[in-house]
Amino acid sequence: MYKEHWDLKKMPFENTPDTEFFFGSEKHEEAFSRLSYVVEEKKSCAALTGAYGTGKTLVLKALEREFKKKGYVFSFVNNPRLDDLGLLKMILHNFTGSGVPARKEDVLMGIEKFLRDTFQDGKHVVVAIDEAQLIDDASVFEELRLLLNYQTETRCLMTLLLAGQPELNAKLDANKQFSQRIVLSYNLVPLDFEETKKYMDYRLKVAGLKEDIFDAKALDTVFKRSGGIPRWINNIANMSMLTAFSKGEKSISEAIVTEAIESSKQ
Ligand SMILES: Nc1ncnc2c1ncn2[C@@H]1O[C@H](COP(=O)(O)OP(=O)(O)OP(=O)(O)O)[C@@H](O)[C@H]1O
Ligand SMILES: [Mg+2]
Repeated sequence: MYKEHWDLKKMPFENTPDTEFFFGSEKHEEAFSRLSYVVEEKKSCAALTGAYGTGKTLVLKALEREFKKKGYVFSFVNNPRLDDLGLLKMILHNFTGSGVPARKEDVLMGIEKFLRDTFQDGKHVVVAIDEAQLIDDASVFEELRLLLNYQTETRCLMTLLLAGQPELNAKLDANKQFSQRIVLSYNLVPLDFEETKKYMDYRLKVAGLKEDIFDAKALDTVFKRSGGIPRWINNIANMSMLTAFSKGEKSISEAIVTEAIESSKQ
């Protein structure tokens, strides 16, 4: 593969939520710091929205990494396409790592006990639900709302973070009782040109590259064709590097980027 061609330690543009590659663009920093505030202040709920590929999952993963280091307890739900009992079981399973009871009342008692025990230990619980636009059932939001009722006199026993594509907003708007619990929401938008350049530069540096390989016009083309959406940037940059490698080229021109995009359509 092209790793040896440029003497890289890692592949620079993999589409995985690898927090080592997390680039704090102004928008991602803003999303990260707003959600951090909600977690640190032990508030009830925050929502992060954004089009597909803008970086929501990576922001949640970066938060999880950061706050786990500080002793916070996370339950990360990747796929909330479940009914209300299914989601409660998933949350409890993530907490305890073991089997969960079958009956709803036992699951709820298990969650409450875990929240209270963790509070006694001086720690705070965060439940992060990714792909929350997939929650179809109003009863799921209702159960989540009820979980937020576990509180002491001064604070919530858990913070709920929801991340999802923009349809999530409509679902939340339709559910006033739940959306009243949302302390803060943030919408991630694509990167602008300057940020796209810095984003690519950062990922290439983390991968171990020392010199610039994309020339100015190539960067411009990556930006225009990706719309500044990180997942598209990764795809196009990766294909461009592959194309340059197959030609034995070390630097990447606009023509290479265009050829890479065209060939990926075939
Ligand atoms: N700030 C960033 N720094 C580094 N890489 C990023 C950043 N934002 C996004 N990416 C990368 O872009 C890709 C898409 O990001 P991610 O999966 O987080 O998007 P998403 O908003 O969750 O998309 P979807 O709605 O499809 O789930 C991933 O490979 C991720 O690593
Ligand atoms: Mg995602």
